[in-house]
Amino acid sequence: MIPSAHAEALNVLHWWTSDSERQAADRLVRQLAAQGVEWHDDAIPGGGGGAAIKVLTGRVLAGEPPDVAQVIGRTLTDWAGLGLVRPLDDVAQRGHWRQVMFPVVLETVSRGGHVMAAPLGVHRINTLLVNHHVLEQLRLKPPRTWAEMEAAAKVMRAHHVTPLAWSDEPWQVATVFETVLLAEGGPRLYAELASTTGWSSWQDARVVAALKRLRWLRDLDDEPTTEEPWTSATRRLQSGAAGMLIMGDWARGELQAWGEHAGLDFDCVAVPQTAGMHLYSIDTLAMLVGRNAHRAEQEHMADILAQPATQMAYNQAKGSVPVRTDIDPAQLDACARDSWQTLARPGAPLLPSITHRMAAVESVRDAIGEVLHRFVRTPGVTPQQAQAQLLAIVRGAAP
Ligand code: GAL
Repeated sequence: MIPSAHAEALNVLHWWTSDSERQAADRLVRQLAAQGVEWHDDAIPGGGGGAAIKVLTGRVLAGEPPDVAQVIGRTLTDWAGLGLVRPLDDVAQRGHWRQVMFPVVLETVSRGGHVMAAPLGVHRINTLLVNHHVLEQLRLKPPRTWAEMEAAAKVMRAHHVTPLAWSDEPWQVATVFETVLLAEGGPRLYAELASTTGWSSWQDARVVAALKRLRWLRDLDDEPTTEEPWTSATRRLQSGAAGMLIMGDWARGELQAWGEHAGLDFDCVAVPQTAGMHLYSIDTLAMLVGRNAHRAEQEHMADILAQPATQMAYNQAKGSVPVRTDIDPAQLDACARDSWQTLARPGAPLLPSITHRMAAVESVRDAIGEVLHRFVRTPGVTPQQAQAQLLAIVRGAAP
């Protein structure tokens, strides 16, 4: 669609404020500007988007939504059900989204058969990043199992390297926890845990095993633990003060933005016991219903966001991978290629991130984060007590 000569700028509310997030957003801004769409930036800082979603909800309830917002996963489909989001079926049809995008992507942005947002990229949450120089110096390999991780941690400690960069921010604890749930429980149990109706699975003994593993991981950080932003934990990995980091692959984007080269300065593997699995979070921009006059620009923006050139430019900076199946994987680095190929592999277990809003509703996601936060900070809380609290939340939220 060709925008009219007096096309207005679109307000875009999002939470991309770190170096790589900013770079990735700026690449979108440039691709859009080249085709006549102007992006007016409304960034709300805060990793994981906790603050952004609150500000956005306030604006929507006040009847003053931005034109475009980073509304993702379950939050997106819930809002679509309330009529707050503009369907993009025409754009999707013209751009052949059904033919060129991963089915899991289409499914995530659809509600009742309608496409409700423009997909940007797929992040892999079960990512373990390792400082390559530390490994080389200590003659270690990236760990593939918990036992290997334990052995590596021992060697790192003996050489005054903190094994794991950890932060107590609730969403970061929850991010690590879900990778551990997948590792300890396997894909079938994880899928049940993530589904809103499967609350009884939270009684499974493997949830207790995951909570124990979570505590063990936290103890691999020898620094007096703080609630540092994810970028600070990533800095500690980069400097070699810490040897390893479990974080969605946006941390990989951040390392790259700081001039690090995958394979040379850092290694990237799946979290132990999750090789071949993809715990995903799909970033999307939704076109909010508000001032109707902006509809043409919103649709034009959605169309450009899905184009191959935009997809490549954005994802290479962001650390995620394109949502399209028709790109050349040779253009991706080894870490991104493994992520993309796992998405493309028939039958590979693809699991929705709970913490990054792919499964649970916003309030449940927050409540889970609070329980885990209290659990890791309070040695007196037993894994069994934390399990009971998680179960109560999920059961209470079940229809
Ligand atoms: C996620 C989001 C990513 C990311 C990260 C850290 O929820 O999907 O794009 O940047 O938070 O802020």
